Amino acid sequence: MSPRVRPLRGRVIVPGDKSIGHRACMLAAVAAGRSEIVGLSGGGDNRSTQRCLSAAGAPFERGGANVVRVEGRGLRGLRGPGVPLDCGNSGTTLRLLMGLLAGLRGESFTLTGDASLLRRPMERVAIPLRGLGGDVETAPGGRPPVQLRGAALVGGRFVATVASAQVKSAVLLAGLGARGETTYVEPVATRDHTERMLAALGLPLTRAGDALTLSPVDEVPPHRWLVPGDPSSAAFWCAAALLTPGSELTLPGVCLNPRRTGFLRVLERMGAEIAVDDAQTIDGEPTGTLIVRHGPLSGTVVASDEVPDCIDELPLLALLAATADGSSEIRGAGELAVKESDRIAAMAALLRADGALVEVHPDGWTLAGSHRPKGGFTARTHEDHRIALCAALLDAAAPAPVCLDTPEAIDVSYPGFVRALADLRIPSARAPRSIERPLR
Ligand code: S3P
Repeated sequence: MSPRVRPLRGRVIVPGDKSIGHRACMLAAVAAGRSEIVGLSGGGDNRSTQRCLSAAGAPFERGGANVVRVEGRGLRGLRGPGVPLDCGNSGTTLRLLMGLLAGLRGESFTLTGDASLLRRPMERVAIPLRGLGGDVETAPGGRPPVQLRGAALVGGRFVATVASAQVKSAVLLAGLGARGETTYVEPVATRDHTERMLAALGLPLTRAGDALTLSPVDEVPPHRWLVPGDPSSAAFWCAAALLTPGSELTLPGVCLNPRRTGFLRVLERMGAEIAVDDAQTIDGEPTGTLIVRHGPLSGTVVASDEVPDCIDELPLLALLAATADGSSEIRGAGELAVKESDRIAAMAALLRADGALVEVHPDGWTLAGSHRPKGGFTARTHEDHRIALCAALLDAAAPAPVCLDTPEAIDVSYPGFVRALADLRIPSARAPRSIERPLR
């Protein structure tokens, strides 16, 4: 093994879950009273949500290490600030805010974002919101900026064709302020944090088969939200340990919602040894400690029915599949082309730059397998945090460095990742030791 590549040993507390963090901020901002959020990620995406809600009249303040507080404005209390709300790089911020703000009669909002967000499709949210009575306009091509003229929402029934937790959550958040019932029918199950969080607040959401129905509510109660660790961030540590011989990492307090842990199921099938300890339920979300040890992986097939449960981990799974024994197929993931970057093209380019054999399809990749990371190039991240994190992992696993053209892209979901990766690499001359590094 190259002296650059060192085993990773230790305990890592990953940042708070980004998806739950967005939802906690939004529900807190429209609650009838003061809420607290414990363990919110300091990453750029959750900060974008706080910035937009603050601009709309619900300012967030720090309430001690790891805690933020906000005085909720009630379901009809947020206000159009008269300037665009900048959602930064965060599609979840923009899409969920469309739902949260669409029913504010008499208020107008413009939702915009960075160059990557301005390329992403928004009609998938605008269409159902119009069906509920919303007045929503997207820019040419169905992209942001999105104009909302707050309207009295009446509720309704929407049968979705795209599998998207963002669309589902936008509709349910809009339903909070609607006069009648709001029903959302999912084509396949996607992450269900919004449902779990509405249930934790005691709000009248019911499920019948694949149909979710929210009855009108008078108010959203304030709450003390406890945000568990982000499984999508934990996935990078799992991959780091699997890529580097002699590694063993312990990851406490990770959200283990089954709609988020598809990557664990795929990795287990590939032969990975990942144990779960200390299982608990926090605010309706299953959590636990992951313990991952290095071991050989074999190739696998990821089919479309598995995709929603590991959508954000597919670039990482492609990287691991490239190094596994035997070939792999990851298909049914056309949605990856409209994420923060075209992740199908971006990952193929990254892996090819390292010398791996990858065939590109409109909905995924075929990976030849048995690739040994080489490094010695500058990676194009496309300013996409998940591509940048994959490039940082390749750097740690390769005998020659991989530089990132925009390393700051990582901060969108995981500020401090590169430093923690360096801290956990055990120099070959020293006995392995544990390093605890709280990162949020
Ligand atoms: C998210 C849903 C997913 C995911 C995104 C976060 C959410 O997007 O890729 O990172 O918090 O609801 P889609 O709903 O567009 O699949």
